[in-house]
This record gives sequence, structure tokens and C-alpha cells, in this order.
Amino acid sequence: MEQNINVRVANSGDVHYAETITTEMEASAKARGTGIAKRSPEYIANKMNEGKAVIAHLNDGTWVGFCYIETWEGEYVANSGLIVAPEFRKSGVAKQIKRRIFNLSREKYPNAKIFGLTTGLAVMKINSELGYEPVTYSELTQDEKFWAGCKSCVNYDILMSKERKNCMCTAMLYDPADHYTPEETTQEFEKKSKVYERLMHIKQLVFGKKEKNINGGASKPKSLMHYFFGY
Ligand SMILES: CC(C)(COP(=O)(O)OP(=O)(O)OC[C@H]1O[C@@H](n2cnc3c(N)ncnc32)[C@H](O)[C@@H]1OP(=O)(O)O)[C@@H](O)C(=O)NCCC(=O)NCCS
Repeated sequence: MEQNINVRVANSGDVHYAETITTEMEASAKARGTGIAKRSPEYIANKMNEGKAVIAHLNDGTWVGFCYIETWEGEYVANSGLIVAPEFRKSGVAKQIKRRIFNLSREKYPNAKIFGLTTGLAVMKINSELGYEPVTYSELTQDEKFWAGCKSCVNYDILMSKERKNCMCTAMLYDPADHYTPEETTQEFEKKSKVYERLMHIKQLVFGKKEKNINGGASKPKSLMHYFFGY
């Protein structure tokens, strides 16, 4: 199946995929019960027109996957909105898309720090293989427009209650001026993936509970993330 999948930079001829892509983004977020910054079909189409997106499709035109580039203040680039159609998952498509959009980002913005926010272990794994490492939110762009994008996420209240220092997502970053090799970050992920998985689970429990406490007035437990990530 994989051999027939084309992974390439999107262009203006791809805008007819935009609606399918945003519909699937929303459906996937709902199915996972996680949050997502919502994007309109127009926004996605614009990324295609600007050559700031990667699309995957079959030879017959069937849509397979997508990801796009955003640029933010302080020379930051985010590779956002990664999505693979459910019937094509778990066959390495996301990995190919992420590698292509990472290389495109490096070509277009060689000095920019590349970052992403994710709630998924699969994406953490893919990012680690590209040389990203987990960081605190303070190491990300402080561009207000970027954080405003989180307003449409169901977890926005949590982000705000934590003064934008943490939320359900794990932040990962690749700094072209100061980074480990992909081999090193891959090894680090392999060593720690079980811990990451547990921490993400704990985060859901603790942050979710804390939200209830804000409304219910019960005592606030100190988050374990405080000890692990020092915020
Ligand atoms: C996350 C998503 C993009 C992964 O796409 P995919 O094409 O299935 O991913 P790949 O096949 O390239 O898998 C990459 C690696 O992650 C692993 N993986 C895939 N799905 C996984 C999951 N749900 N849990 C844990 N690991 C997973 C794969 O086994 C693979 O590891 P390997 O190299 O050891 O084989 C896809 O599931 C999706 O579109 N989900 C909904 C949207 C989403 O969550 N986007 C991310 C927003 S940050």
C-alpha cells in the first residue's frame, strides 16, 4: 500500500482537499477526546497556495494525509495539524509527512527553531527521530497569535489556569543552533517512552481533576509534572 502513496509539497491544485482535511481533523480530535486548535478550510487552502504544507495522496487522488508550516515571532516554526486518514494509519505515512515538512521548514527557515505541541506518543516518537527534544513551554514562541490559536481547544481553560506554562500537550523543539543528533534523541525516546506515556496519563488525571477543583473549591494537589519538568 505504502508504495502508491505520494508525499509532496502541496500547491494551489490541492485546495479541493481542504474541506476533507479539516473535517477529519475535527473528527479525529473528537474520537480521541482531546483538544485541537480548529482550522478552517480557507486557512488550510491558503497554506497550500503558499507552498507551506505537505500532502499525501494515492495516484488516483485519494487523500491520505497532511501537515502545514506556521511561522511565529522570535524565529520559530511550528509543523502543525498533522493528520493521516484513519484507513492509512500505522503504516509509516505520518513519519514520511513529518520528515518532508521538517526538511521543507529547514530549507525555508534555516535559522528558525522548529517546535510542536502534541498529546500523542506516536508524534513524540516521530519528532524524536527527527532530533526534537521535550522542552518546557517557556522555550516556545511567546507570540500572542500562536497562543490565541489554542482558544478553540477544549483544554484552553487549563492552559490559562496554568498561566500558559503547561497544558495537556507536550512541547518538543528542534533548535538548529543547539541540538542533539537524531540518533541521540531517538535513543532518549526509547529509554523514556514508558515514562512519557505514564506522565501523559497522569497529566490528564491531575489537570482534569484540577479543573474540577477550580469549580468545586476542593484542595489542589501539587502536580507531578512540577517534579518532572520543574515548572
Ligand atoms: C498520530 C497520527 C498522525 C499517526 O499517523 P500514522 O501514519 O499512523 O503514524 P506512523 O505509521 O508514521 O507511525 C509512527 C510511529 O508511531 C507509532 N504509532 C502510531 N500510532 C500510534 C499510537 N496510537 N500510539 C503509539 N504509537 C503509535 C507507530 O508504531 C510508529 O512507530 P514505529 O516507527 O516503531 O513503527 C494519526 O494517528 C492521526 O492522524 N491521528 C489523529 C490526529 C492526531 O493525533 N494528530 C497529531 C496532532 S499533534
